[in-house]
Amino acid sequence: MRMYDLIEKKKHGGILTRQELHEMIQGFVTGEIPDYQMSAMLMAIYFKGMEGEEIINLTLEMAASGDIVDLSEIQGIKVDKHSTGGVGDKTTLVIGPLVASLGVKVAKMSGRGLGHTGGTIDKMESIPGLMTAIPKERFFEIVNETGIAVIGQSGNMVPADKKLYALRDVTATVDSIPLIASSIMSKKLAAGSDGIVLDVKTGSGAFMKTLEDSIALAKEMVTIGTGAGRRCCALITDMDVPLGSAIGNSLEVIEAIETLKGQGPDDLTEVCLQLAAHMLYIAGIGDVDKCYLMAEDALKDGRGLATLAAMVKAQGGDETYILNPDKFPKAEYSCTVIAPEEGFITHIDTESCGIASMLLGAGRSRKEDKIDYSAGIHLYKKYGNKVKKGEVLAELYASRKDQLEAASKKLLSAYTIGNEAPTDKKLIYACVTKDMVRDVTTKFQ
Ligand code: URA
Repeated sequence: MRMYDLIEKKKHGGILTRQELHEMIQGFVTGEIPDYQMSAMLMAIYFKGMEGEEIINLTLEMAASGDIVDLSEIQGIKVDKHSTGGVGDKTTLVIGPLVASLGVKVAKMSGRGLGHTGGTIDKMESIPGLMTAIPKERFFEIVNETGIAVIGQSGNMVPADKKLYALRDVTATVDSIPLIASSIMSKKLAAGSDGIVLDVKTGSGAFMKTLEDSIALAKEMVTIGTGAGRRCCALITDMDVPLGSAIGNSLEVIEAIETLKGQGPDDLTEVCLQLAAHMLYIAGIGDVDKCYLMAEDALKDGRGLATLAAMVKAQGGDETYILNPDKFPKAEYSCTVIAPEEGFITHIDTESCGIASMLLGAGRSRKEDKIDYSAGIHLYKKYGNKVKKGEVLAELYASRKDQLEAASKKLLSAYTIGNEAPTDKKLIYACVTKDMVRDVTTKFQ
C-alpha cells in the first residue's frame, strides 16, 4: 500500500477497505506515514465523506491502535454515557450514581474541560482527596463494590485519535462528521462498556450548532456503536442555554448533589432522568417509561445520592462534602450582573457563558493552567424569564477581584433582552436509534 494511492482514491470519492484503513492507521501511529500525507487524507475525507461501513472500519482501526479496556472482571452489564460537551453539563455526576444504584454498572472514563466547555474530571477533583487516576484493579473493585467509578483516561488508549485530533486542529478538518464520529466512538469502544448512551448537544454552546448537524452526527455514532456490536442510542439535548443554573467546578458538584436530593433545576433534572432511563433501557432493565420511573424513584428516595457518596469515598474523596455541600470552600470575591432594561430573556449565548466562567478561573485557556474550583457563575435568569431593569441576572465568583470585570462584561453580552416572550424551547429534541429518530416527550420543555 502506498499512502499516495489511498489519498488519490479518497480524492475521487473511493471507499477505503478495512485492510487499507488498517495500514493507514498503523502507519500513521508508528510515524511511517508523515503528517503531510495524513493531512491531505483528512482534507479528502472532509470533502468526499465516508460510507457507513467504511466509518465503522476506520473507528475499529482507531480503537485498536492502543489499549482496549477489558471490563470482564466487573460483574453485570456495563453502560457508558458520553456527552459531546457543553456549559453547565454536570449530568454524569447525577446519572452515573442513579443508574448504578439500580444495579447497572458504570465504569466510566471521563475528560477534562476543553475550551469553553467543562469536564467531569475537573469537577470531581474539586472534592477534597478524590483521586481520578486509579490503578485498573482498584477501578474494577470500586465498580464491583459501589456500582460506579469515574476516572480519567489512562495508559495508551486510542493513540491514533490523539495524533489525528492534533492534526485536524491545525488543518481545519475538525468539523467533519465522519471524523468527529470516529474520534468519539473509537474512545468509547476502547473503554469497553456493553452499552453506550450518547448525549449529543445542540445549540449555541454545543459543538454542533444546528439540529440537522446534531442528528446527522448522532446517526453516524449510533451506526458505529451498533455496527461494532454495542447497544447504543443517542438523545439530542439542548445546549442553546446552559444546563441548570451553576457553571464552574465545585458549584456544579453542589448542583448535582441538589439534583440527587430532588431539589435541582427542572431542566437538569429532566435531562438526567431521560438519559438515566435510556441507560437502564439499553441495559435491558425494561422499557424507557418504566426505566424513567425507576430513575425518578432512586432520585426521590436518596439511593442515587448514597451511591455518589459511596463512590466519592471509594475514590479517596471526603464524602462528608457530599452529605454537607456547605463545606465546599467559597470564592473570596463575587459580584452580580444586572439587567440593563426590562423585558424577556430571548437568547443566552451559551459559549459566552462558558468563556465568562473561564475568565473567572473555572477553566483553562492553556493546557497548563490551574483550575480554581470555587470560581464560576450562578444564573438566576434564563431563557424565557421576564426581568425588571436592575434585577440580578447572575452572580459571579472568583478568587481574584480583577477577574470579575471582564467576566461580568462577557456574561452580560451573552444575554439578549427583548420586548416579547420568546417561543418555548425544546429540552430534548429526539432519540436516535439504529432504526429511527423519534420524539421524546418530556415533563419540562
Ligand atoms: N470530541 C472528540 O473527542 N473528538 C472530536 O472530533 C470532537 C469532539
